[in-house]
Amino acid sequence: MAMLEHGGRLRAAAQHYGIALDQWIDLSTGISPWPYPIPEIPTTAWHRLPEPDDELNAVAADYYGNTQLLATSGSQPAIQALPHLFESTRIAIVGPTYNEHIAAWEFSDHEILITSTLTAALESAAPIVLLCNPNNPTATHHQPEELLAAAHQLSQRQGWLIVDEAYGDPYPELSVTNLAGSSCAPNLITLRSLGKFFGLAGARVGFAFGATSLLNRLADKLGPWTISGPSRFVAQKALTDTVWQANQVAYIRDAGIRLKQLIARTVAPETSVKSTGLFSTLHTRHAEALFEHLAVHGILVRLFREASLIRIGIAADHEWKRLENVLQTWHNTIQQRAT
Ligand SMILES: Cc1ncc(COP(=O)(O)O)c(C=O)c1O
Repeated sequence: MAMLEHGGRLRAAAQHYGIALDQWIDLSTGISPWPYPIPEIPTTAWHRLPEPDDELNAVAADYYGNTQLLATSGSQPAIQALPHLFESTRIAIVGPTYNEHIAAWEFSDHEILITSTLTAALESAAPIVLLCNPNNPTATHHQPEELLAAAHQLSQRQGWLIVDEAYGDPYPELSVTNLAGSSCAPNLITLRSLGKFFGLAGARVGFAFGATSLLNRLADKLGPWTISGPSRFVAQKALTDTVWQANQVAYIRDAGIRLKQLIARTVAPETSVKSTGLFSTLHTRHAEALFEHLAVHGILVRLFREASLIRIGIAADHEWKRLENVLQTWHNTIQQRAT
């Protein structure tokens, strides 16, 4: 399977634009600019084999509101393994979306259909439907009632609904993770990640939620010690630190609104900008030119050329002024051209 393109490729950008690595603002990923502060890690976490019966599952169950979980090393291994848990079938993926999902299902023995809405995915009669909520990169979101109704509809054809909530933490009211695998939604599978909201993408910690029998098969596929001892230790701290979490929600929501308003003011009308809190996405026919404008000023964002989308992550406080100035310059240039 070929390696796919992702955000965060700062070294390549530094070389291409001839701007030193430390001069860049990297807004290309949607990872929070405020990572969870790493506590001192005990030597035993490095020295001993990770123990699956430490507190990690219990604290994760508390944070996510569901005990039917499997800890994975980020969402990625679950994304790659899930297609192998189903007999050859049809899947409808609501797109455009995170390319690893599409690649994983393409790589296995299934027929894939990309639909532009959840309604179209359900109408396709495919037994499995997959979407991200909120979606990366479009930042569209679905209400929990819609997702539960979809899971119910799919259960009538012995189907499954897979919802990737990697960006779900800033708006927990949109999450259906607490119901995945319950009697209310036995065919619902959700994926969560500590990479984005907690800013711990390098720790490689995530969780899958759903029916116990399915999680057992997923666990068999992934094998033992999927998460390193130090990552387990840090994840337990992060998942129990409710004060830090509450502050993080407030910070991200504020920064998300500020970014969306800045984009609406300088680049695109309000209607074509959507926000997940962690990133804003806009649709513009100037996507490529805007990407270049930001890049030559040392700001890396993510361009989705085919869809004419630009995704911009929230900036840390010390980066904000520069982002504001560079977008204002863009606005002035466009205005001048129009007159
Ligand atoms: C929607 C979505 N799901 C999952 C992932 C993978 O995250 P993780 O670091 O948990 O493997 C990403 C990464 O960008 C993503 O955008």
